[in-house]
Amino acid sequence: MARKFFVGGNFKMNGTAQSITDIIANLNTATLDPTTETVIAPPALYLLLARSLADPKIALASQNVFDKPNGAFTGELSVDQLKDAKIEWTLVGHSERRVILKENDEFVARKTKAALDGGIGAILCIGESLEEREGGKTLDVVTRQLNAVAEQLSPAEWAKVVIAYEPIWAIGTGKVATTEQAQEVHATIRKWLGEKVSAAAAENTRIIYGGSVTEKNCRELAKQPDVDGFLVGGASLKPAFVEIINARL
Ligand code: PGA
Repeated sequence: MARKFFVGGNFKMNGTAQSITDIIANLNTATLDPTTETVIAPPALYLLLARSLADPKIALASQNVFDKPNGAFTGELSVDQLKDAKIEWTLVGHSERRVILKENDEFVARKTKAALDGGIGAILCIGESLEEREGGKTLDVVTRQLNAVAEQLSPAEWAKVVIAYEPIWAIGTGKVATTEQAQEVHATIRKWLGEKVSAAAAENTRIIYGGSVTEKNCRELAKQPDVDGFLVGGASLKPAFVEIINARL
């Protein structure tokens, strides 16, 4: 089974009702590669608006979710609420949440498990800092982040996980990983899936790249055998996002 190319747009804490309406209008009228699974993640406040506006071929993702069911958790969103709003995916473990909001590996793993238990797909973000890369620790870091999740999931549950490898030094910096750097880590993640999860998970799990992806660098990255798509921040707010969704055309 070929892995379906997956492109996510992470709007982060950007946009207004008007600008998100405009972005979606552009996506709705563009010709999008039908073999790409396209998902957008606007801020939580605009998820319902985005779901009502977006063509059904475009899925919605939350940028975050809580690991507990509905209850006294001020400011959080539950998996049930996302499901109720027809939001099919959630990001988990984005580096901005790991670093700024101090989310640790175990918390990210619990959120991933909660999302899957509730029927929401998880876009699991992992990646190393510049210091860790320069210290030769990249593979240790991504493996540690993945091991925490593997402790919570059964092998079959990985079918609803997309792994987003996002080196922190490449996020929002304009400094994209080279195709070789991306492919090397993606191949290692796939090997890890084969050893720690299952042969099926290694074969079928989408491993996408994030960090300064643009319409200019996406084509070369998309040619790498273990790059199954992208998680796009800044460029997802621009019309050129369409070119990234269509990177393989
Ligand atoms: P960027 O962000 O494309 O703006 O570098 C990617 C991300 O954080 O998902």
